[in-house]
Amino acid sequence: MPDRSIWTNEALAALVEPDRVHRMAYTDQQIFDLEMERIFERLWVYIGHESQIPNPGDYYLARVGRQPMMMTRDHHGDIHVLYNRCPHRGAQLCSARNGNAGKTLRCSYHAWTFSLDGKIESIPAVNGYDGTRFDKNDPQFQVKRAPRAESYRGFFFASLAEDGPSLKDHLGHAATALDQLIDRAPDGEIEVVGDCFRMEQHSNWKIFLENQIDVSHPGATHESTGYAAMTVESELEQQGEKPPLEYTFLSDFQRIGIEGWDKFGTTGHPQGHCTLEGYMGLRPDDPDTKEYVRRMYAAYGEKRAEEILGTNLHHVLLYPCNSVQPMLQQLRTIRPVATNLTMSEIWLFRLKGAPEAIYDRSLAYYYLVNSPSTMVNADDLFNWWKCQHGLESAGGDWVSLHRNAGHDLPPDERGIIQSAPQTMSELPLRHMMHIWKDYMTDGIAAGYGERRG
Ligand code: FES
Ligand SMILES: [Fe+2]
Repeated sequence: MPDRSIWTNEALAALVEPDRVHRMAYTDQQIFDLEMERIFERLWVYIGHESQIPNPGDYYLARVGRQPMMMTRDHHGDIHVLYNRCPHRGAQLCSARNGNAGKTLRCSYHAWTFSLDGKIESIPAVNGYDGTRFDKNDPQFQVKRAPRAESYRGFFFASLAEDGPSLKDHLGHAATALDQLIDRAPDGEIEVVGDCFRMEQHSNWKIFLENQIDVSHPGATHESTGYAAMTVESELEQQGEKPPLEYTFLSDFQRIGIEGWDKFGTTGHPQGHCTLEGYMGLRPDDPDTKEYVRRMYAAYGEKRAEEILGTNLHHVLLYPCNSVQPMLQQLRTIRPVATNLTMSEIWLFRLKGAPEAIYDRSLAYYYLVNSPSTMVNADDLFNWWKCQHGLESAGGDWVSLHRNAGHDLPPDERGIIQSAPQTMSELPLRHMMHIWKDYMTDGIAAGYGERRG
């Protein structure tokens, strides 16, 4: 391999082959720094949903790459994304993760105050600046704004690059994930439920994205959980009881087994997004679902409601930071901290106008499958941690992505590639590293940046 200290475009490109990736992509500090610069501090990165800051003065802190950012709501109801840094001597303006700043952002150090869009409002004993180069209108004395901040139907993203594709262009066809989260609400609106679960993952951020959509892992990693749930289900059945639907969230891992996951298709989008389709339709024939469908028909008409409900996207990765499960009203976002440390947040949304039972069902999935307290997530976290350790060792240089390599379907007119039917392909893993290589070298294929090196 090339000298680690010189990560030229050629050296970076050499880490990614069509069917394997070099372990340095997961472990090298300089590569991590380049990822922050060329991916996380450049592409559109998720900040949060507007319902996290419903009232004037509300703020929410979110890390974008290495930068401490905050989303604020001003007294006109507008939302801004600012650096969480006072322009006086650099103190962070807000220290709680979220809260209400009141009428202004007031720095705790020397009491400079700023409006919620970052403009300076007042400085105590301001006469002390007479005759100096201080100028209240100079941008250097305002709280710096994210170069670009945009909302997609209430989901706020920021890009720390001045130029590049719009959020809509970056999301492309994968915006369907966010549309689905919203359109499944009979009232056409959603809101976050409480705070999120927040977890420290002791592994590289790419391992998380890969796992979310790796269909060859659930039947193995979650076998013990699936077995336990299936055992309880059959005990209940023997006693003449019908097991609650929620048991299938866990028992499916055992029921489908390892090889059964070849039924579910995966795709890769030109911006790096990926989907897993066809798993867990969640359209059972129970009274609660019937009532929900009735409300959807009433709100949208039968044809449109069936279009919405018939879109079976189990999991969508919005590159580089989100994993969305629209049918379960859940969204995860990751904030990389180090080569081997990633913070993750998982948010649950309520579909306005849907029966309470539908909310309860998604809450059950949130607790049973995605929360830090479930065996499902614990088994995933443990595997990711073990992968990171293995990749940091000298036990081998390459990560294998060979499953069905060379057998994926060619891109369609939108540039989206699909796994061949019945393959359990590692397409999303190969695809994300292929796009990673592009972002890390010149970004041309994805519409970002210019040719470097
Ligand atoms: S550092 Fe903020 S007022 Fe001085
Ligand atoms: Fe898993």
